Amino acid sequence: MAYEFIEVRTEGGKVGIITLNRPKQLNALNSQLMVELGQALKAFDADEAIGCMIVTGSEKAFAAGADIGAMATYSFADVYRDDYITRDWETIRSIRKPVIAAVSGFALGGGCELAMMCDFIIAADNAKFGQPEIKLGVIPGAGGTQRLPRAVGKSKAMDLVLTGRMMNAEEAERAGLASRVVPLDKLMEEALGAALMICEYGQLAVMAAKESVNRAFEGSLNDGVMFERRLFHALFATSDQKEGMDAFVNKRKGQFTHR
Ligand code: HXC
Repeated sequence: MAYEFIEVRTEGGKVGIITLNRPKQLNALNSQLMVELGQALKAFDADEAIGCMIVTGSEKAFAAGADIGAMATYSFADVYRDDYITRDWETIRSIRKPVIAAVSGFALGGGCELAMMCDFIIAADNAKFGQPEIKLGVIPGAGGTQRLPRAVGKSKAMDLVLTGRMMNAEEAERAGLASRVVPLDKLMEEALGAALMICEYGQLAVMAAKESVNRAFEGSLNDGVMFERRLFHALFATSDQKEGMDAFVNKRKGQFTHR
């Protein structure tokens, strides 16, 4: 499919890579870009050969936020009627295979929120994260006030959301927003390494792990622990569990068939 604001490719036949591509606007996220991103993610999710996805931007910007030019003239009636902007942004939440955000440069506002909707964030050492909406007279609108405190705790989330300041990659890793920080020129290599590692594992277990960790993030502890236990039980019905445990016991590498 031909896209205007993203580039799509695969690596090793297994990893789907989506590159946000509005360089002149620092990958500012307009509705069409988000629709295209959703379509590409859904297509990879449905492709049996693909085990993991990576969303990335340019060296200068993962994404500098929702498109302020497009938003500037909207009224309350416009945004409320269209449920702006989240409707198009929700697609990523329905993706069942892992999605890694490989972030270099600015990840601000909706860009930071998009990175947080991915399953984990690998940051280049030039990454800058922030929720500067307060400077525009608004607040984060795609989950930032909910996901940021869960990721970095209340105090730092309040600091970032209320002052609109940016935090660098090192602070983001220390705070738990980024899982790893790597030199800029190693970003894609690192993300690809993680993605290929995930592709080696049983896909059912990978999807169950993602679903279960998301329960921890989105629901209550009791509910999450019970959900995890039931998925854990269910995986004993798969051939991957038999293979994985037999391989360990017999000191060989498991060959997963995802059944
Ligand atoms: C539209 C944007 C943009 C954005 C940058 N640009 N961010 N256009 N929407 N979010 C455009 C600039 O207008 C400029 O276009 C070009 O990209 C380069 O940007 P500069 O400002 O010249 O670059 P620089 O001086 O390096 O500064 C980079 C920056 C700054 C610090 C990232 O651009 C900035 O502060 N951007 C806005 C960040 C922001 O407020 N994000 C939150 C948006 S609100 P021209 O044509 O002049 O070259 C949001 C709400 C989400 O995301 C809610 C979801 C529902």
